[in-house]
Amino acid sequence: MHRHPDLDPSTGQEDPIEYSLRPQRLQEYIGQAKVKVRLEIALQAAKKRGDVLDHVLLFGPPGLGKTTLAHVLANEMGASCKVIQAPALEKKGDLAAILTNLEAGEFLFIDEIHRLSAPIEEMLYAAMEDRKLDILIGQGPSAQTLKVDLRPFTMVGATTRAGLISKPLHDRFGMVHRLEFYTRADLAIIARRSADLLGIHLATEGSEAIARRSRGTPRICNRLLRRCRDYAEVKGDGTITAAAAEACLKLHEVDDLGLDALDRDYLQALCHKHRGGPVGLRTLAAALGEDDGALEDLVEPYLMQVGFLDRTPQGRKATDAAYAYLGVNTDPGPLFR
Ligand SMILES: Nc1ncnc2c1ncn2[C@@H]1O[C@H](COP(=O)(O)OP(=O)(O)O)[C@@H](O)[C@H]1O
Ligand SMILES: [Mg+2]
Repeated sequence: MHRHPDLDPSTGQEDPIEYSLRPQRLQEYIGQAKVKVRLEIALQAAKKRGDVLDHVLLFGPPGLGKTTLAHVLANEMGASCKVIQAPALEKKGDLAAILTNLEAGEFLFIDEIHRLSAPIEEMLYAAMEDRKLDILIGQGPSAQTLKVDLRPFTMVGATTRAGLISKPLHDRFGMVHRLEFYTRADLAIIARRSADLLGIHLATEGSEAIARRSRGTPRICNRLLRRCRDYAEVKGDGTITAAAAEACLKLHEVDDLGLDALDRDYLQALCHKHRGGPVGLRTLAAALGEDDGALEDLVEPYLMQVGFLDRTPQGRKATDAAYAYLGVNTDPGPLFR
């Protein structure tokens, strides 16, 4: 199985260098201008009133900066942030312990929030809305409900799947923000910032070459930057020029649009094997030997962004632009050769 270069294949997590590149304050957070303006106002208003920030829900494909933004918001409020992966919340008692231990003003970041179990999600409703928790003590006829008041806190939820959030949960967030793919100009700035932090020599044209192939995604931008550094140090004089970046990314099978081997295999399967669709995601995933969730998170959003893919009620469909793209790249790929 091949993977996009944005997660460590052994752990499925991001690595420590990526972590060190995270902007800490809103001002350092590049791009997403609309979201930033709205958040800036909410932050200032909350601070002015001496209140906590409203609960925030963040949507968007992997690597666009949801986790980063959650920490930025806590930093801006001068608060600490507890981080939880939704699937790790198995028992109501786990959530009760976390919520009752939150300090006043603290942030609770729940990642992959579309994966909460129903009982846990229901428990969150009252916690988010009324800062109250109903705890059941004992069993059978002698069981009692204990009402516990929680200290004011801010919940930030993040998800890659807007469609999987229930309405009651969605409605309990005071703010809902969708992160968008970044422009090339923003990605060039991100590459520059990361290069400076890591002491990498990056020519302006090199930053543009990387930005163009980053699929609109900061995490991919940072990955490509590091691969290009290796390449420039081994094959060149250590400076990432446009030529070095292009040669390096070609070596890694990242094309001029930033599409990689998995993106191309997806398009080949859709256009050749399934005649352009409509075809179900599961069928495509099976043809590629991939997990359907991985395709939905990592491959499809960008293919839709560049106009190669339509998602219809009947299934996935290739656009004319996808055929034009494949026409330029006539190699049908290893799966269909
Ligand atoms: N707006 C931004 N400006 C600069 N770097 C960013 C920005 N957003 C994300 N990054 C970089 O991309 C990496 C991935 O972001 P992350 O918050 O982990 O994405 P997500 O949680 O949406 O998957 C971060 O480590 C950070 O270095
Ligand atoms: Mg994240």
